[in-house]
Amino acid sequence: MKTIRIRTTDPADERLKEAGALLRRGGLVAIPTETVYGLAANAFDEAAVRGIFRAKGRPADNPLIVHISDIAQWAPLVTAIPERAKLLAERFWPGPLTMILPKSDLIGKVVSGGLATVAVRFPSHPIARAVIDAAGVPLAAPSANTSGRPSPTNASDVLEDLGGKIDAVVDAGPCSVGVESTVLSLCGETPRLLRPGGVTPEMLREVLGELEIDPAVYENLREGAVAASPGMKYKHYAPRAKVVLLKGSFAQFCAYVAAHAEEGTFALCFAEEAAALPVPTVIYGSTNDSATQAQHIFEALREVDRRGAKRVFARLPARDGLGLAVFNRLVRAAAFQILTLEEDE
Ligand code: TXA
Ligand code: MG
Repeated sequence: MKTIRIRTTDPADERLKEAGALLRRGGLVAIPTETVYGLAANAFDEAAVRGIFRAKGRPADNPLIVHISDIAQWAPLVTAIPERAKLLAERFWPGPLTMILPKSDLIGKVVSGGLATVAVRFPSHPIARAVIDAAGVPLAAPSANTSGRPSPTNASDVLEDLGGKIDAVVDAGPCSVGVESTVLSLCGETPRLLRPGGVTPEMLREVLGELEIDPAVYENLREGAVAASPGMKYKHYAPRAKVVLLKGSFAQFCAYVAAHAEEGTFALCFAEEAAALPVPTVIYGSTNDSATQAQHIFEALREVDRRGAKRVFARLPARDGLGLAVFNRLVRAAAFQILTLEEDE
């Protein structure tokens, strides 16, 4: 199949109506959102949704997020909307927050991966909203990458993974947040953060008071543990190169990299640091600037593969605010390998 590329930043572009019609007919269309590009299908068409799993090579038990473009589309998808969920929606929607609640019968088991719950998100990107409007139905959409690869933050990355496997990609340029949405479960007694993203724990606590952070945000799941969010048990965001996160000062980082440089060794570092390193570098954002780090981390992980890196030593990002989301993606790319550098290293 030939994948059509629709380049537009105009929500009134007539071709978005065609993208909507394609989705209504059961097609697969990749769309830009403020977080990352998503691979969309009609959430009520189980055959179309199966196509998403096929195109991505995604395990069938990993549920999809359902995207809406009007708050009124939410209630029919879930059994009830608790007060705290309403407050969060008022504060953070449209935006990079996904809320999980018990699902209604409208949501089939392909979308939910067999779970009794559904994740819903109201994106703020004007083109995403225009496509959902044009389709006239909620859209199931995971990140538009091949399963296990870094999420795509521009249309070329989508085509690198899924070109020829999907009907179309709507290209509106790079995504502004750069990491996927915050995933929050509201099914238990206490709200639980399953994946950190653009809406930070600090922001959630302002509205909720109490918030639990799932241990899988920081660590690898223990052998035999059940993942609250099935996506967390899979190897994620990983380039082909072996990534090791180094914890320590920049001087320690430089010394370690110099002592361990071989053919194919790269450094994944901040913009201000690149010139001082003795190996080829790939930059992910600026020092002490989680927003630019989030914008560039996935593209940087793809870049190390394009340049044929074999081993990558990566700087550890700060873990507060949006930095937690950057850390969460990087530590998965590194298969949870963090090396603490000692003073005399
Ligand atoms: O920003 C985003 O959220 C992007 C854009 C396209 O909206 N989408 C995205 O989808 O990142 P995906 O499928 O790549 O990641 C969704 C995550 C997965 O880890 C999945 O396991 C989890 O959310 N998830 C989805 N539904 C769930 C549910 N009912 N219960 C627990 N986890 C769920
Ligand atoms: Mg994904």
